Amino acid sequence: MSSDWNDYADGWDGNSDVRLYANRAFAALDAFAGITGGGWHDKRVLDFGCGTGLLSGKLAPHVQEVAAVDTSERMIAVLAGKALPNVRALHADILDGRGAGEGLRGFDLICASSVCSFLPDYPGAVAQLAGLLNSGGLFVQWDWLARDRGGSGLTVQQVRDVLHQAGLDGIRVEQVFEMGSGGQAMPVLMGTGSRK
Ligand SMILES: C[S@@+](CC[C@H](N)C(=O)[O-])C[C@H]1O[C@@H](n2cnc3c(N)ncnc32)[C@H](O)[C@@H]1O
Repeated sequence: MSSDWNDYADGWDGNSDVRLYANRAFAALDAFAGITGGGWHDKRVLDFGCGTGLLSGKLAPHVQEVAAVDTSERMIAVLAGKALPNVRALHADILDGRGAGEGLRGFDLICASSVCSFLPDYPGAVAQLAGLLNSGGLFVQWDWLARDRGGSGLTVQQVRDVLHQAGLDGIRVEQVFEMGSGGQAMPVLMGTGSRK
């Protein structure tokens, strides 16, 4: 498997598992936060590690704006090619220590779908992202559930600890769905917390 996300960009949307993951993540978010219920039309969203924007595209019709950010130039090129209304596609590393760019703060919701377990400094990233939320704003992540530390993915306790260290409130971490791969069930967790 390549370590460069650019190599996956062209085939990303053609992968039915990737599309199913995004559908299930959005369904879990909607059940939790009522995104499709009409109360989010004036809200701003950051889709961190957006890839080709599968989740951004589902969120966009229900919110004011989605800033969709990814460090992979090719992923962002695929998303930009979709020209989704309400979605601002940005090739940027907002964790590079130079601070988030213009307009990249004051979010009501930050989503990170299948991103956090790939980050070299997951705790540092969540602490920075939490600082981009409005008071009461929600951070949501989805990742493969690891049973033990050291396995691929994240454990429930690891996510709880990191969201807590980032100063988030009302933290919930639970398995929300599972994917099947080669006959093997792969559970996915959703972690949520809000800025005080
Ligand atoms: C498994 S893909 C998930 C893509 C998308 N969220 C989805 O669910 O289809 C992980 C994505 O995270 C992005 N990524 C990794 N590190 C990142 C960082 N520091 N900032 C922004 N994006 C990052 C990768 O480029 C890649 O597009």
